[in-house]
Order: sequence, then C-alpha cells, then structure tokens
Amino acid sequence: MADKPVRGLADVVAASTALSDVDGAAGRLYYRGYDIHDLAGRTSFEETVHLLVRGSLPTRAELDALTAELAEARTIGASAQAVLPYVTRSGTPMEALRTLVSALSVDDPDASDSGPEANRRKAIRLVAQMPLLVATYHAARTGGTLPDPVDDLGIAGNFLLQITGRRPDARTTEMFDECLVLHADHTMNASTFTARVVAATLSDMHSAITAAMGALRGPLHGGANEAVIKTLQSIEGGVDGVEPFVRKTLDSHGKLMGFGHRVYKTEDPRATHLRRMSEELAGITGDPSYYQMSRRMEEVVHDTKGLYPNVDFFAASVYYYLGIPIDLFTPVFAVSRMSGWTAHVIEQHLDNRLIRPDSEYIGERDQKWVPIEER
Ligand code: SDX
Repeated sequence: MADKPVRGLADVVAASTALSDVDGAAGRLYYRGYDIHDLAGRTSFEETVHLLVRGSLPTRAELDALTAELAEARTIGASAQAVLPYVTRSGTPMEALRTLVSALSVDDPDASDSGPEANRRKAIRLVAQMPLLVATYHAARTGGTLPDPVDDLGIAGNFLLQITGRRPDARTTEMFDECLVLHADHTMNASTFTARVVAATLSDMHSAITAAMGALRGPLHGGANEAVIKTLQSIEGGVDGVEPFVRKTLDSHGKLMGFGHRVYKTEDPRATHLRRMSEELAGITGDPSYYQMSRRMEEVVHDTKGLYPNVDFFAASVYYYLGIPIDLFTPVFAVSRMSGWTAHVIEQHLDNRLIRPDSEYIGERDQKWVPIEER
C-alpha cells in the first residue's frame, strides 16, 4: 500500500542524473559540476550543448566540429514544412511548435533508432532545428521572409537575426547567448521529467520531446515568462502602480507570475544574471520602465510574501528589450531547454527502468453493480 502521496511530488527524488544539480536552499545550479555563475557570460550555448549532450566542455577543435555539425543540421524536413501552413492558421506558437517538433521525426534518418549514437545525433539535430523551427514558424505566420543564417553568428545570433530581421550587435548576441545558457537544464523540472517518463517506456526521442513541449507550455512552468510581461503591461501607473497591483493580487490569493519556485527557497541564481541583463538592456534601449517596474515588483513581493523571482521573471523584460515577440518567449525557453531535454533522454535510455510510481486510491469502495434498467 502506497504512502500518502506528496502533492506535486515535492521533494521526491524521481531519477538519478549527472546532468545538473540544484541546491535550493543555497540558490545554486550546476551543469555537470560547473557552477552556473562560472558558466554564465563566459561559456557559449554551443559549449553548453557539448557539455550536456557529449559530457564535457569542448576543446577548441571539438567546439569547431560541433559548430559545423549544428550548421549542417540546421534544416527542416519536408514533412514539417508541409504542416507549417496548417499550424500557422490558429492556436498559440507552443501548440504549433509541439506539432512541428513531432513532424520533424518523419524526416529524421535516426527516428526509429534509440541507440546512444543515434540519440546523440538526434539531440544535435533537434538543438539545431529548434531555433530555425521557431523562426520559420514566425516568418510563415507573419508572411515575412526568413533571413538566411550566417556562418559567423552562432545559434543565439542567428535566432535574433531570423526573428527580428536585423543582424544583432556583438553585445546583444552575447546577452541572448547567456540567456540560452541559463535556461539549458534544471534537474527534474516538469518538462524534463515528462521527457524522462516517455523515454523510460523505451519510446523515442521525438515522442519524449513532443511531450516535454506540452509540459513547458503551461503558465506554471515555461509559460510564465510571457505571463510576466503581460502582467507588467497590464499595470496602470508604471512603477507607482506596482505595489497596489501586487497587494490586490495577493489579497485575492492570485499568483504573481515569475515568482516562487518548487526548489529554490532563496534567489534563483539565474535571476541574478537576468536582472543584470535587464538593467543593461534598459540603458541600451533607453526604456527603463520594464526594468524599473520589475525591480519594484521584486521588492514588494519579497517584502509582502517572502518570495523571490525565478528564471522567468527578469527573462521577460530581457526578451522584450531584445525585440522578441511576446508570444515567442516560451518557444525561446524551448530553444534552450532542447539541450537539456535531449541530454536527459540519452541518459534515461543508457540506464533505463520504467518510471511508474504508485498512487493512493481515494474513490468509492464496495460498489454494488446493478443493470442499467435499475440505475
Ligand atoms: C519554471 O521546476 C523548475 O525547475 C522549473 C524551472 C526550470 O528551469 O525548468 O525553474 C522554470 O517553471 C519556473 C517557475 C515559473 N512559474 C511561475 O512563475 C508561476 C508562478 N509560480 C507559482 O505558481 C509557484 O511558485 C510554482 C508553481 C513555481 C511553485 O509552486 P509550488 O512549489 O507548488 O508552491 P505552492 O504553489 O504550493 O506555493 C506555496 C506557497 C503558497 O502560499 P500559501 O497558500 O501556503 O499561503 O507560496 C505561495 C502559494 O500561494 N506562492 C505564491 C506564488 N508562488 C508560491 N503566491 C503568489 N504568487 C506566486 N507566484
């Protein structure tokens, strides 16, 4: 007989992983033993992909080889292209991208092979395809033309080029690249856990990633970044309107998007870097309002509820300042987390056991069956 379930599996260890570790009390995050504070702003997203998917920070030669492999894989197959016109007609970007990611498997040469080498090839392919998929979807839905990627820009720079239509300057590219590093992996978050549950049935990489996309979409998870900027835009009176808004929300037992975390009980270390970038971009753009409102909200929420901003809170103003459309904020999260998801699927397949927890029955018992005429 199972013990009483802990709601939301809080504090339940669901898997062993060598990919990332979070110390929620101390507010620390590590990717394969490297502190996020050492990686952020100093290690590129491509290096982080190598660390998570291949197991080590790359040498210069290994990075050059990975960069070439990512550029080679930066294509979308005919099946996803064929689906594109249908998914741009209605629905949200995350719904469309969930379908498009699934369609990628039709043209993936390793689709039916879940061996370690095939999984690693699929991981690199998906990491390369995801930013292009988002940009292709955005161009199709806006009727715009998709700028060709350029070789001297990595994943971060080419994504901004293809989404905004403008070649980003070096500092802007560095900051967005840092955002991708910060969002790459985060132990057993809901979407990664989803991917591992699917992989643990010995289902394939694309099925696991499609399921993870569904989980990330939710506003309690990856959807929070979009909700944060919409919250800031809804507040009347700018900075002065923040405190009344927060108090009204809390008094009505509402949730403030971008705050709180299941694991962190102090500042999310990623927020530290995102806050800094938000301030820098506020200066560059000459529009301090979103940064200033964010800082005021952070102060009021901490003073009234003792909550800290999570990764989504300052990411919202950073992405807005970078000129990324608001409804693409969660897809940006997926662009980065594709590296973590695929690494976790590889890890699950390498040492697998079906993930099947128990449950506590709380329904009726000893029901007496009667024919339908007597019900
Ligand atoms: C991500 O897991 C990960 O690692 C995820 C992530 C990753 O990298 O993958 O870090 C990314 O998803 C970050 C979280 C983004 N979501 C949001 O910002 C949505 C708003 N946050 C909350 O919904 C909430 O904080 C969660 C969902 C993130 C965590 O919820 P828990 O652990 O289930 O906590 P809870 O809802 O039980 O709240 C505990 C208390 C409650 O107060 P009481 O009822 O006990 O008085 O804290 C309060 C909650 O009301 N609370 C909030 C709040 N978050 C918690 N109150 C107001 N606003 C909030 N945001």
